[in-house]
Amino acid sequence: MFVSLMNRGRQYTEKKVEMMEIEHFLECMDCGAKYSPQEIVYTCRKCNGLLDAKYDYAKIPKNLNDKWLKRPLSVWRYRELLPIRSISETISLQEGGTRLQHCKRLGDRLKLHRIFVKNEGENPTGSFKDRGMTVGVSKAIELGARIVACASTGNTSASLAAYAAKAGLTAIVFIPSGKIALGKLTQAMVHGAKIIKISGSFDDALRTVIRFTEAHREVYLLNSVNPYRIEGQKSLAYEVYNQLGNKGPDTVILPVGNAGNISAIWKGFVDLQKLDMVKKLPRMIGIQAENSAPIAAAFRSHAREIQPVEHPETIATAIRIGYPVSWKKALNAVYDSRGLMETVNDKEILEAQKLLARLEGLFIEPASAASIAGLKKLAEMGAIDADEEVVCVATGHGLKDPDIVLVSYEKPLEVDLEKEPLEKILAV
Ligand code: F0G
Repeated sequence: MFVSLMNRGRQYTEKKVEMMEIEHFLECMDCGAKYSPQEIVYTCRKCNGLLDAKYDYAKIPKNLNDKWLKRPLSVWRYRELLPIRSISETISLQEGGTRLQHCKRLGDRLKLHRIFVKNEGENPTGSFKDRGMTVGVSKAIELGARIVACASTGNTSASLAAYAAKAGLTAIVFIPSGKIALGKLTQAMVHGAKIIKISGSFDDALRTVIRFTEAHREVYLLNSVNPYRIEGQKSLAYEVYNQLGNKGPDTVILPVGNAGNISAIWKGFVDLQKLDMVKKLPRMIGIQAENSAPIAAAFRSHAREIQPVEHPETIATAIRIGYPVSWKKALNAVYDSRGLMETVNDKEILEAQKLLARLEGLFIEPASAASIAGLKKLAEMGAIDADEEVVCVATGHGLKDPDIVLVSYEKPLEVDLEKEPLEKILAV
């Protein structure tokens, strides 16, 4: 099967395609080993370090932003900085282009003047994962893969299932048994993924899929350990840059689970600096749920290594992760940006979800609300200036996790209009 996979890859490259403008390779962040984009490789074969896509920035066309501004706001607006050979062969559901909402009422409540929410729930499957998946699945096609797989707390599996369906690929998803939100599970089911429940946590599911894809090289792994996922997700930084009038914010706050997204967004801003588009980089603030917070714990003790959390727990199931794959990239992002890591508890998360829903009309899932809870906590601690321009990333839509709402919010009124008039019930 592997041979046929490689052959398909070769056939694919012989097709006439509209080529992207810039070449890239993969490089190990620890030992510097380099790999060709035609190879199927996820982590460094020499030292198991994480890989990163590298470009020759000198070859990137000047006036890039002028080109970008002529295209619709979307992941593929930024195609010059995405590692796919051909734009005409990409698998897209029109991801990205999500709105950056100025949250005045939330800002007034927190005494902050420039609070924005990047509403990633507007993506095709309702989360930021689609940014990485359009690139990851396009790469899978480029390499000739027929089967794709991931472990997931829910959103990655929903996204993979949808993009695999669009591409005509088989998707296999490994999920922690009983710990994934209903909306996300139904998405994976509807799109026809093969769903394997693993008893244990996301970390166990991830270990399983990594072992499985190592043993079955014809199955292409699409967790964020795959560097192509990170490449797609960095587009959020470029969009924010364009949406703020071609400049970066002072601060980005986002929830952290497996730590791919914070690494990706930081990389996006660093790209913009390398291309002389921004001078100052934002500070990156990562928020983890208490009891699922190995990176925040490392930050607190100024450490460069994390201690995995054996049994992570939080109602924000999307970020219920004890051993984040991209911890090293995330710590680099936080230290290099002079940012920080903070934790919030479940109560703070649910309060923040309600606050955003009721002040701004935005319904986001609990993991996403961790960024708002973090903003509130830091504002109350005086760690955010009143005039600081802050972008909170709301990573996923609230409808993905209806169960948590049904247990934590007031119930609808059951009324018998024969017995009680509406005026009395509603006190009007
Ligand atoms: N927010 C949401 C809604 C998520 O689904 C995730 C991760 C995160 C934040 C954290 O992002 O892992 O890049 O630090 N969800 C993964 C999944 C793990 O399987 O869907 P991260």
